[in-house]
Amino acid sequence: MTRRPIIAGNWKLNKLVGEAVDTVEDVKIKLMDCSKEEMPVVVFCPVFTTLQAVSNVLEHGKGLYLGAQNCYWEESGAFTGEVSVSMLKDLCVSYVVVGHSERRQYFSETDEMINKKAKAVLSGGLIPIICCGETLEQREQGITDEFVAGQIRAALKGLSEEEIAKSAIAYEPIWAIGTGKTCDSAEANRVIKMIRGVVAEVSSQDAADKIRILYGGSVKASTIEEQMSMSDIDGALVGGASLEAEGFAQIVKGTMLARAK
Ligand code: PGA
Repeated sequence: MTRRPIIAGNWKLNKLVGEAVDTVEDVKIKLMDCSKEEMPVVVFCPVFTTLQAVSNVLEHGKGLYLGAQNCYWEESGAFTGEVSVSMLKDLCVSYVVVGHSERRQYFSETDEMINKKAKAVLSGGLIPIICCGETLEQREQGITDEFVAGQIRAALKGLSEEEIAKSAIAYEPIWAIGTGKTCDSAEANRVIKMIRGVVAEVSSQDAADKIRILYGGSVKASTIEEQMSMSDIDGALVGGASLEAEGFAQIVKGTMLARAK
């Protein structure tokens, strides 16, 4: 089963319109001579206020896609400050990060809310990148697998086999996010395999074979080749290293190199 890798840049709360556009233009130039067939799906997830401008400079359908960092599950109505899936679709957004640990931690998002968001994203025809991952404390207590499996079961509740097959999951151990401490590749692969097993159990083996499961947490140009050479790692959700065009383009190229081996 070959799964097309996804390299998604999560810009978090960074970049004004001009900066966002400049970065994308720069990445486009750096990836210009890459074969579109061999390129992973490259996703830029800028802040809401820059989505329109980034959308204007992306070449949709040529391997570069627009992602949002969050969404709300209701379509419209009295929900001050929220953005719905159809509004994202209106700007040509294709992917939506759902349940990032920062959303869970700082904005009190629960498994139930994340499940509603994943459902709304899929009903709107977009692809969710559903995040999961344990804290350092949970890892030290030896409850990583149980905790992450629980997050996945809750996030996928009520989704059809077909919906799950086209979704993406990002395994991001919280202790590895923004810390410079990447999770050992073999260990990340082990947890991702475990997640795939959970997907098979709650859905089907076919959905488990098709769903793309990314690794996230201090991914950089120097780590991506080893990560992408693992059997079950289907790409990366990149924070800090996606802010700068050169580093991000190197990550995309490293993914292609690892896959060509
Ligand atoms: P990082 O962030 O690459 O800066 O660790 C990853 C993420 O939060 O998605």
